[in-house]
Amino acid sequence: RNFKSSMECRWDIDRLNAPFLAIYESLIPPEEEKAKQKQLLTLLEKLVSKEWPEARLYLYGSCASSFGVCKSDIDVCLAMDADIDKSKVILKLADILESDKLQDVQALTRARVPIVKLMDPATGISCDICINNVLAVVNTKLLRDYAQIDVRLRQLAFIVKHWAKSRGVNETYQGTLSSYAYVLMCIHFLQQRRPAILPCLQEMEATYVVTVDNIECAFFDEVEKLSDFGSRNRETIAQLVWAFFHYWAYCHDYTNTVISVRTGSLLSKRTKDWTRRIGNDRHLICIEDPFDISHDLGRVVDKFSIKVLREEFERAAEIMQYNANPCVTLFEPYIA
Ligand code: GTP
Ligand code: MG
Repeated sequence: RNFKSSMECRWDIDRLNAPFLAIYESLIPPEEEKAKQKQLLTLLEKLVSKEWPEARLYLYGSCASSFGVCKSDIDVCLAMDADIDKSKVILKLADILESDKLQDVQALTRARVPIVKLMDPATGISCDICINNVLAVVNTKLLRDYAQIDVRLRQLAFIVKHWAKSRGVNETYQGTLSSYAYVLMCIHFLQQRRPAILPCLQEMEATYVVTVDNIECAFFDEVEKLSDFGSRNRETIAQLVWAFFHYWAYCHDYTNTVISVRTGSLLSKRTKDWTRRIGNDRHLICIEDPFDISHDLGRVVDKFSIKVLREEFERAAEIMQYNANPCVTLFEPYIA
């Protein structure tokens, strides 16, 4: 492990820049897909406003954070009076949408986050609608703002998400991590490079402040002023992909530390009281949510899936170090 944690990057790493950039480019959604998403949102707004004229619809998740690859589903939040009964609204909403031009409308009232699922045959886009999940709208803005600072974040996150989907480790119901968790891992990683590639927006003077569910969300959001923040660091995308997997394979202290985008640093599990299993939360890999700081995005990971995840990080790190053709092998589908 010591040998590996000090291992030097392969000499020909920059040979991989062009193929990684080609993968990144191929994952960017085309403009017409963005237009179709807007078209679906407009249709939904029309249908919803008949029943709830005061309510508003927001896009959140990867389609709004700029971390969405092509052909992703869209996430929509219906924001309305806080006192409503969510299950009732979900059922009513499903009812309204069912009777119009949409397909496969399903109300999932018993999920952790109750949602309505649907598919729009006109655009072919699938969509999840949740109620009053305003914190998700705010953390989507934080992610989007980080993405504007340095293009290497979006490049790295696309490659990591593509790897995670290919390898079957982007499935929260199977105990692996959400896309949101992987993006936070990428942001944290780039905050930690020396020189840093990303700043810590929540530690800077706040220019954006909102209070949501009693949580004050405050950060610097004039990111156009930070467009050359990372320019002193000249690391290339291939070097960063190598270093990202190397870090999670050999260098991260899973036993004692929590990654925290909020502070731009590592925290100790002890100070968060995340040292043991509480209920179903095992804290085997700890990723602090930037606003809901009692929330560990790694809580879904159990003693079986932590092994799967770490083996996948090690596999990726070895491929990046030794394989003749990493851009193919890295993304080989995992077949159980
Ligand atoms: P893809 O759909 O895989 O492209 O990415 P996504 O960013 O839309 O993924 P995901 O479904 O993981 O998350 C959707 C949004 O939900 C995130 O951007 C967050 O704003 C919000 N969110 C907040 N807390 C959580 C959480 O604990 N788990 C997940 N999955 N999402 C959360
Ligand atoms: Mg999504």
